[in-house]
Amino acid sequence: MNDCPAHPTADGENTVESGAPELFTWEFATDPYPAYAWLREHSPVHRTTLPSGVEAWLVTRYADARQALADGRLSKDSAHHAGPANAKGKTGIPGERKAELTTHLLNIDPPDHTRLRRLVSKAFTPRRVAAFAPRVQELTDRLIDGFAEQGHADLIHDFAFPLPIYAICDLLGVPREDQDDFRDWAGMMIRHGGGPRGGVARSVKKMRGYLAELIHRKRENPGDDLISDLIRASDQGEHLTENEAAAMAFILLFAGFETTVNLIGNGTYALLRNPEQRERLQGSLAAGESDLLATGIEELLRYDGPVELATWRYATVPLTLGGQDIAAGDPVLVVLAAADRDPERFRDPDRLDLARSDNQHLGYGHGIHYCLGAPLARLEGQTALATLLRRLPDLRLAAEPGDLRWRGGLIMRGLRTLPVEFGAGPPPEKK
Ligand code: HEM
Repeated sequence: MNDCPAHPTADGENTVESGAPELFTWEFATDPYPAYAWLREHSPVHRTTLPSGVEAWLVTRYADARQALADGRLSKDSAHHAGPANAKGKTGIPGERKAELTTHLLNIDPPDHTRLRRLVSKAFTPRRVAAFAPRVQELTDRLIDGFAEQGHADLIHDFAFPLPIYAICDLLGVPREDQDDFRDWAGMMIRHGGGPRGGVARSVKKMRGYLAELIHRKRENPGDDLISDLIRASDQGEHLTENEAAAMAFILLFAGFETTVNLIGNGTYALLRNPEQRERLQGSLAAGESDLLATGIEELLRYDGPVELATWRYATVPLTLGGQDIAAGDPVLVVLAAADRDPERFRDPDRLDLARSDNQHLGYGHGIHYCLGAPLARLEGQTALATLLRRLPDLRLAAEPGDLRWRGGLIMRGLRTLPVEFGAGPPPEKK
């Protein structure tokens, strides 16, 4: 029976193939990997009816997924969708349609995408991210200080959730005194997703109004922050309009927020469930090494990454993918979580191996829409997990894995809560 409130309707199409697993149930949300293994083997490009009623193709094999992500015949522009109007304009980012901020990188194709991406890349540089490292460390320590003496915490609510929202606010140039408002608005959106609830709509509206006003202020009074750089950035004399800058700030906030929450949440959960790997990592961190942390974060992204499905794509012409004919106008969803467990590509794919070296996973996507924020995500993920393990060395799960609930939603994969315990008493020395 399908009783998952986030996915209220049954996936009728999946009964077409005999033995096909039921998708989008609670059980599936808890552990989708057996169902993905079945699809990879029996129906690698699989037509399904999504909980919203929209029909789409799910692509689950690594080779097909990589090809689809880089295929220029698959558009990001929902104007190409032949389906019902209510499915249009979606990337899976909560509230974006209500925000009227839909002209952003994940919804457009070249040449507009090339122009906007070039402009934002001038502002969002690896140098800016590297310079941000001490602030991420400071934020991480401050959040851990908040619960270290308690002996217990909900790592999603107390740690994984606030860290990226404060980090991205700082990077964008949202003044500190306004950042708790962002925490509240983002909290509303992450809890309720893009559903038609009044609270979400109000939060999106407030955020949109705030960003528009902030951009206006920064134009008058630029500072040393990403929004000011977005306004300043020019490409052959061209600048972003205020609307484009607002849409860009919005996509940076949302593409960089729930993803990073899930990297920290899913990553910590995977480490707690694989004590041998976690001990290895703790040993290597204690020895002052960083190699295992770097490969480990990539492996955590592959093993149980934050983005389960890449965002929507639409066939602009009839095409064949993985031997399956796809009609023009059909939506195509690349299942990154399935591709990254494909035994044709990864040896022993269901095993967490923090030292895995041949690990060209698709957790950050592939092709022209490859994650723009990957350097920031790596910085936040590495800082968060290393600091957590160093400061709370005996961290342990305070719930049965079967009792943990995963947030509903098609695109993202993340826990609602992650209750943990650790030795009470004086907090361990900071480095
Ligand atoms: C662990 C954290 C993250 C993961 C797993 C992740 C994953 C992804 C994936 C899979 C895509 C491609 C989606 C597609 O092709 O449909 C993407 C795109 C993008 N990501 Fe990330 N992301 C993360 C963090 C961030 C951060 C921190 C930022 C910025 C602050 C960011 C900004 C973006 C942007 C702007 C795009 C669109 C790029 C384009 O269309 O050209 N992401 N991300």
